[in-house]
This record gives sequence, C-alpha cells and structure tokens, in this order.
Amino acid sequence: MKIGKVLITEEEIQTELKEMGAQITKDYEGLDLLIVGVLKGAFMVMADLARYIELPVEFDFMAVSSYGSATQTSGVVRILKDLDAEIAGRHVLIVEDIIDSGLTLNYLLKALKVRNPASLEVASFLTKTGIQRVEINARYTAFEIGSEFVVGYGLDYAGLYRNLPYVGILEEDSAT
Ligand code: IMP
Ligand code: MG
Repeated sequence: MKIGKVLITEEEIQTELKEMGAQITKDYEGLDLLIVGVLKGAFMVMADLARYIELPVEFDFMAVSSYGSATQTSGVVRILKDLDAEIAGRHVLIVEDIIDSGLTLNYLLKALKVRNPASLEVASFLTKTGIQRVEINARYTAFEIGSEFVVGYGLDYAGLYRNLPYVGILEEDSAT
C-alpha cells in the first residue's frame, strides 16, 4: 500500500501548530494547565505542539480504542490507559489526532467532566467537517479536512503510517 497523495505537508503542519501553540500560550497564561494527549494517534502532534507552548505545563496521556483495524468508527470506546494525574480544579486541554464521528471525544469529555476540572477544552489536529455524529466544539483545530481516510503524523491504517511527517491519503482501492 502506498501514499496516493499528500494532503497536508510537513511545513504546513508546523506552521499551523506554531500558531496553535502561540494561541494556547496566550489563553492559558497564569493558569495551571494540564495537557492530555490521546494515544496513540496524538503522540506526534503532542511532541511538536508542546515545543510551541511557552508556559509551565504538565503533560499526561490517555489511551483509548475506538477502532479495530478498519477505517470505520465502531462507536465503541474503551479506556486502555487512564490519566496518572488528578484533574480536579485544573485546566485540562485534551489533544486529539482527529475528530471523525466525534464519538471518542464525546465519551472522553463525559468521563473527564465528572472529575471536576476547572476547565476542559479540546485541541484537535484534524477535524473532518460535516460528518460528526456528536457535535464537538474544539477550542483549537489545526486543519479541517473532508471525509477521506487519512494517514500519517500519528494517524494509522492498520497500525502503520503513524511515523510519516505529513498527512496523506492511501492509494485508491488500497484502503478498502
Ligand atoms: P471518532 O470517534 O469517529 O471521532 O474517531 C476518532 C478516532 O478514530 C481517531 O482518534 C483516530 O484514531 C480514528 N480515525 C478517524 N478518522 C481517521 C482517519 O481518517 N485516519 C486514521 N484514523 C482515523
Ligand atoms: Mg486510531
């Protein structure tokens, strides 16, 4: 299987994340910020975004599973790894690789809200427009894309392609 097309270049990604980091730096100045990455997909965006945030900030990770190896959302979300940190009274920013149906984040937001954070916001690297089954109001989004299945920059197809420094689309008929 090959990449048929590069959708977002490495340079475009870095430019956008730099801007997002600057905005987060502004918005959370003076606040106790905990950034929560959703594994595995968000590992890449977390690493780069972190370097563009100029604040004393803590990081934590959750691992969830909402996909098998197929390209369709199952709607079933499992928490494979919970947070290490307590979040009561803290400002929590969840970093996701992509919002597709919105089911994964919807579930996560509900699960974290009951722990009483001071605030709970979402930064999504990609958002697929117009197809959310549950509406998610992400405070930050780097790119909006169509409904195509994408890989790279943390996003996988059957566990592969996460290490690409750009976002691409698999060759026609290879992802079905
Ligand atoms: P949602 O629950 O439908 O919003 O799906 C969110 C999760 O599905 C993401 O965190 C990804 O792991 C995965 N996902 C959704 N769309 C894509 C895609 O186009 N490529 C790779 N993974 C995807
Ligand atoms: Mg995934």
